[in-house]
Amino acid sequence: MRAAHQILDTPPLLFEDPLALALLGPDAEAMIRAHIARHQTLYGRGLRSHVCLRSRFTEDRLRQAEADRYVLVGAGLDTFALRQPDWAKGLRILEIDHPATQAKKREAIAKAGWAEPQNLAFAAADFTRESLADILGRQQIARHEKVFFSWLGVTMYLTEAEIDASLDAMAHASDHPSVSLTFKQPDRGQGDKAMRDLVASLGESYVSDFTPEAMAAKLTQHGFVNQEFLTPERATAEYFTPPRSDLTAPRRSGIVYATTA
Ligand SMILES: C[S@@+](CC[C@H](N)C(=O)[O-])C[C@H]1O[C@@H](n2cnc3c(N)ncnc32)[C@H](O)[C@@H]1O
Repeated sequence: MRAAHQILDTPPLLFEDPLALALLGPDAEAMIRAHIARHQTLYGRGLRSHVCLRSRFTEDRLRQAEADRYVLVGAGLDTFALRQPDWAKGLRILEIDHPATQAKKREAIAKAGWAEPQNLAFAAADFTRESLADILGRQQIARHEKVFFSWLGVTMYLTEAEIDASLDAMAHASDHPSVSLTFKQPDRGQGDKAMRDLVASLGESYVSDFTPEAMAAKLTQHGFVNQEFLTPERATAEYFTPPRSDLTAPRRSGIVYATTA
């Protein structure tokens, strides 16, 4: 979605990610263009807008947070560590992901001819077998460090108990944790059901959903009391003014940045 955004949408882009396409390999642009009709449906644009917006919002908040560590939980093909801007050079970055996903990404980095940055570490873990607390426990994170977690596009695949355990691990990782996460809201219409069916057909069924109120309560329960939900109004004001001709602001809130007191 981020790669498609670079070639299908109109500058200034919602999210600048000049490496996204190259990471996918030499055939990526042709593949995106071969499916252009699908990318340009209402649903295709909505999904692309969400995926680009969650990365843009998270990196904007990361910059403001002046963190010491950036931990991407379920990093996927996120390219932040590879294209890190000057303000990020002092960060220690950790990508945690499923062993299969991470191995493919590292292979793709090597194929693109890029070196893995020195301030980037990888931890491979299957969260159904190993807890985030165990993984973080091996990272020697000092209490005073500001640790910023990115948890994008993952909670909907986890049970509520798994989400609780992960939030607990983040909250106790240091004295200054913060998290930017996405969550799925309960289905409302036919579009939501179509998306749910599509994802299930790919073998990645949604497991959990939350209203913003329920997510706010959950974050509070884990100590993340300062919460900034990217509501449609806020997203429109910050990222879609003036309105774009290609992508539209989300109709519901599904991204939140939260810090402890
Ligand atoms: C939809 S992708 C999101 C990737 C990235 N955060 C982004 O914004 O593009 C979901 C990620 O969760 C990871 N994931 C899913 N189930 C997992 C598990 N059981 N253990 C570890 N990672 C898992 C996948 O490997 C993938 O990287």
